[in-house]
Amino acid sequence: MGKREKKQKHNQHRARGASYYNTQEDEDDFNYQQSLPSSFSDKDPEPQGDFEEEEEEEEEEEENEEEDMDNDAKPSSDVPSKFLLYQQSVQSPKGDISYLQKFFLMYVGGRLPLHLQEDFCGTALLSTEWLRSDSRRTAVGVDLDLEALNWCMENNVSKIGADGYSRMSLFHGNVLQPFEAKLVRFEPQELISNIKLREHKDNSECNVLESTVQAGSYDSTGDKYLKRNFPLPARDIVCAFNYSCCFLHKRADLLLYFKHVLDALSKKGGIFVMDLYGGTSSECKLRLQRRFPNFTYIWEQAEFDIIERKTRISLHFHLQKQQKKLRHAFSYSWRLWSLPEIKDCLEEAGFHSVHFWLRQMPDSEENRTTEGFGVGRDIKYEEVRNFEQEDSWNAYIIAVAK
Ligand SMILES: C[S@@+](CC[C@H](N)C(=O)[O-])C[C@H]1O[C@@H](n2cnc3c(N)ncnc32)[C@H](O)[C@@H]1O
Repeated sequence: MGKREKKQKHNQHRARGASYYNTQEDEDDFNYQQSLPSSFSDKDPEPQGDFEEEEEEEEEEEENEEEDMDNDAKPSSDVPSKFLLYQQSVQSPKGDISYLQKFFLMYVGGRLPLHLQEDFCGTALLSTEWLRSDSRRTAVGVDLDLEALNWCMENNVSKIGADGYSRMSLFHGNVLQPFEAKLVRFEPQELISNIKLREHKDNSECNVLESTVQAGSYDSTGDKYLKRNFPLPARDIVCAFNYSCCFLHKRADLLLYFKHVLDALSKKGGIFVMDLYGGTSSECKLRLQRRFPNFTYIWEQAEFDIIERKTRISLHFHLQKQQKKLRHAFSYSWRLWSLPEIKDCLEEAGFHSVHFWLRQMPDSEENRTTEGFGVGRDIKYEEVRNFEQEDSWNAYIIAVAK
């Protein structure tokens, strides 16, 4: 296939990429870059561009010039953590939180939501932002990835002040067996006792403080730290973002998960909020890229199997300055659920009502010539009862417990 033809084919699927990840309120949300090497932290607060199709020819050429790092490779000191790159390019916690508050007030009301549970939390950036914006708030996070939880403790919770640790409870475990999940501990006392004075190599007169604490350790022997034995406030809101319910492939698992969510929500009323993407272009092989000042983020969706509705997603990062590629920094096996399948399961699990808020994504033609966030930036989510199929859409699904 010639370059021109290839481009035309690709352009059918362009456009929805950026909004697969970011809601429009959040492009100012690049405030979690304190731990960036200096070459990264002087970046323009406005990202440079929307997702665009990658030029495969260019890609192949670069392949030879740059050093590849696969997911297991230990990043060198000048390469930022894959978690930091993910947070900067994928997440938009402020926008999500403003929608969470709006949904709670609309469908429950009568009080302020204070207690959040973020399932599939990864580095729990959303929970961290939740705590940062109001000192009365608490957050619970659950994830299978202990490395991500540890990274959160060291790099996110540490930025919101000492009381952050007492208001955040991170659990390492499976959302399908929440009571067996184990608390990831981070004791400020431990931190202090582990700080040691270390002689500076170049100057014996000069001592530098270095923390040797390992964040996120837990006692694997006792039951004390199991979620089932840990006192937690009833949650006002439980969320599962960035399409995380697609990790659950079986209907029975989805149903079981929704029952656990309902169980965690306050008997005074609460909401569960998850997101989903779809549209005609979402059921195809797809590769989208988005340029940031110092790196390029690539979303790659493998072939889409219409029998099982499964696909594989890989996230890659190309670091311009370091001339490195973090290929397959994250990879996921997903089942792309439909909106009615999700609604059926939520109702069967016992939720009182289910609401859909959708946002159509810019179509390919519009997106092709747009600079910056441009098209799509001002499109808000709206509650809908019907929605005609589009090239691409994003949805919040809100399930109300009463
Ligand atoms: C797509 S990431 C989402 C991270 C974050 N919530 C966000 O909004 O960007 C999905 C996360 O779900 C976690 N995960 C996958 N299956 C899980 C399960 N059964 N129980 C708990 N966590 C799971 C993965 O470890 C990963 O951190």
